[in-house]
Amino acid sequence: MSTLCRAFLVNKAKILQSASSVLVRAGQNNYSESGPQSLIGRDFLTLKDFTPAEIKQLLWTAKDLKTRIKLQKEIVRPLIGKSIAMIFQKRSTRTRLSTETGMTLLGGHAAFLGPDDIHLGVNESVKDSARVLTRMCDLILARVYSQKDLDDLAEESSAPVISGLSDLYHPLQILADFLTLQEHFGYLRGLKIAWVGDGNNITHSLMMGCGKLGIDLSVATPRGYECDPKVTQDMINLASKNDMQFHTTNDPLEAVYRANVIVTDTWISMGQEEEKQKRLNDFAGYQVTRKMLKEVHNDWVFLHCLPRKPEEVDDDIFYDKHSIVWQEAENRKWTVMAVMLHLLTDYTPASYIPKFTRGE
Ligand code: CP
Ligand code: NVA
Repeated sequence: MSTLCRAFLVNKAKILQSASSVLVRAGQNNYSESGPQSLIGRDFLTLKDFTPAEIKQLLWTAKDLKTRIKLQKEIVRPLIGKSIAMIFQKRSTRTRLSTETGMTLLGGHAAFLGPDDIHLGVNESVKDSARVLTRMCDLILARVYSQKDLDDLAEESSAPVISGLSDLYHPLQILADFLTLQEHFGYLRGLKIAWVGDGNNITHSLMMGCGKLGIDLSVATPRGYECDPKVTQDMINLASKNDMQFHTTNDPLEAVYRANVIVTDTWISMGQEEEKQKRLNDFAGYQVTRKMLKEVHNDWVFLHCLPRKPEEVDDDIFYDKHSIVWQEAENRKWTVMAVMLHLLTDYTPASYIPKFTRGE
């Protein structure tokens, strides 16, 4: 069978599985007007592939799990007997730990496969590795250099594939950011988010998330470090559909003006270490400081996906009471748990769906 034909059959199986779950849930009536969102069998590679209702469903489930497990001390083990293979071609603290501990909490098992532990890309092709992994595991999470490797893995895998970061996107991070903002402000649509820094994988996922949920976004990058043009065009299309503000600039002060949320990330992403000196020079004026934030909204908060270097944000802001980066880091766990749970089961949150729009 040709690769194309096989890929079609695999995808078809995923689609059929998903469609039947929608039918099963259609009889239930305990959902909000956004309706039941079955994600069984889907890949989680970019927020671009998800509807606003599906993204809200993941955030709702994440909050529900956090409440049930952390606050109410419930034992929630819907994934007993399930396993996830975690492929890491790059370092990780949060993505690895949140997935590993999250899968354990839900009753399943996570296997860590670092760059020296697996043949993928060295001794074995993506295609062959994907086929073997899916014979043994129910899910695959992969952190890779190139988004194409993730797309290839997803095409060859009959198990859902979750992005753990690529050069283009980091969707798990943005789910955690949105859960954190929703917990803090009580809504998402109605906020203005300002990005100050590199036009990188985090920015791209932030754009897709804001575009889908209609959250105003202003992005400041130095000249030459703007976002990927295709992702920017996708964002422009989403913004025009969603009646929201999207703005790009090379002036950080313009981006942060009246913003509720200031976000930044490292100026030197993994794999860009050789460009360090040039980037440090080119990002002059981009360090987030109190002086930069003079004209932000008075209820502002600061987010950073971590790991953080002092050059992109000084200690004064990073350790300020407006910085909610530790809550953001913790929320990586509840959000990846929601993703794993929804790709494998139809989960019904016990709590009411949270508010997503100011004044809703
Ligand atoms: N934010 C994030 O993805 O962190 P890690 O690189 O530690 O996984
Ligand atoms: N932009 C950073 C994010 C790390 C979580 C990187 O790709 O290294």
